[in-house]
Amino acid sequence: MRASLHDATQVLKDAAVPSPAVDAELIAAHVLGVQRTRLGLTPFFSDGQAEDFDTLIARRAKREPLQYITGVAAMGEIDVAVGPGVFIPRPETELLLGWALASLEACGAHPPLVMDLCSGTGALALAIAHARPDADVHAIEIDPAALEWLQRNRQLREAAGDSTITVYRGDVTDLSLLSEFTGAIDVIVANPPYVPSAANVTAEVADFEPPAAVFAGQDGLDVIRPMVANVARLLRSGGAVGIEHDDSNGAGVCAILEGHGGFSDVVEHCDLAGKPRFVTANRI
Ligand SMILES: C[S@@+](CC[C@H](N)C(=O)[O-])C[C@H]1O[C@@H](n2cnc3c(N)ncnc32)[C@H](O)[C@@H]1O
Repeated sequence: MRASLHDATQVLKDAAVPSPAVDAELIAAHVLGVQRTRLGLTPFFSDGQAEDFDTLIARRAKREPLQYITGVAAMGEIDVAVGPGVFIPRPETELLLGWALASLEACGAHPPLVMDLCSGTGALALAIAHARPDADVHAIEIDPAALEWLQRNRQLREAAGDSTITVYRGDVTDLSLLSEFTGAIDVIVANPPYVPSAANVTAEVADFEPPAAVFAGQDGLDVIRPMVANVARLLRSGGAVGIEHDDSNGAGVCAILEGHGGFSDVVEHCDLAGKPRFVTANRI
C-alpha cells in the first residue's frame, strides 16, 4: 500500500490538489474503512480495494471535493452525509455553531426555539440538536437536491439517537415564510450563499458545488440583504442572530443590520485566520 499511496500522492500533486498526501491517505482510509491514523497498521489493499482506490484517486485528480468522495463532512460533534448537489459544510462555520450554542446557554428559554436559515445538509441545525437535545430546531432550505441530503441527515441523526429537527422547503427572503413563528424564535443561525459572483474560487467549488449555494450576486449580499427583514420578523425581542458572510463583507453585513433599525449589539467576529467571518446581533 505504501507504493500505491506514494503513486497516488504524485497523481494528486500533478493535478494541483492542495494537500495531495493527506487526501491520498484519507481516501485510502475510506477504502479500507479505518481511521487515517490506523493506516500504518493496515499494510495491504485487496485487489478490489486497490481498484476502488485508483478510481477514487482519479476522481480527486479531477478536483472533485474530497468530501464528495468520502461522503462525509464534520460539524461540531457530528458527521453529516454529503455528495453531489449539496454544499459541503466548512470548518470555519464551526465558529458560528460555537456562538449559537453559547447564545442558547445564555438565553435560558425552555425549550429554546432555533432556526437554521439556508440549511444545506442541515449541518448547523443537526449539530445544535445534538448538543442541545432540548432545543426545538427548524431548518429551512430552498433547493430540492439539498433538501434530499437534509432529510437523509435528519434521519441518520435520529437513528443515532439525536432529537429530531423540523425541515421546511422555503425561501428565506420570502416575508411570508413560516408566519406561525413570527416574534417567537430565540436564536437564528444563517450560513447563506455569500460569495461575490466575480470572486475566484477553487476548481472544487467552481466545477462541483451548486452555484446557488455559493454565489450571491455582484457584492455577495443578494440573499443576506432581503433575509434580514425576515430575521427581524422571526426573532423574539431579545433573540439573537448570527450570519456568516464573505470576508469582504463584514462591514456590509453590520451596516445592513444596523440600517434595519430593529437590532442592537451588532458585533463582527473573525475566523482563526483573523478574517471577518460572521456578524451577530440582538433583536430589540
Ligand atoms: C453556503 S450553503 C450553507 C449550507 C449550510 N448552512 C452549511 O453551513 O453547510 C447555503 C445554502 O442556502 C441555500 N439557499 C440559497 N438561497 C436560499 C434561499 N433564498 N432560501 C433558502 N435557502 C437558500 C442553498 O441551496 C444552500 O444549501
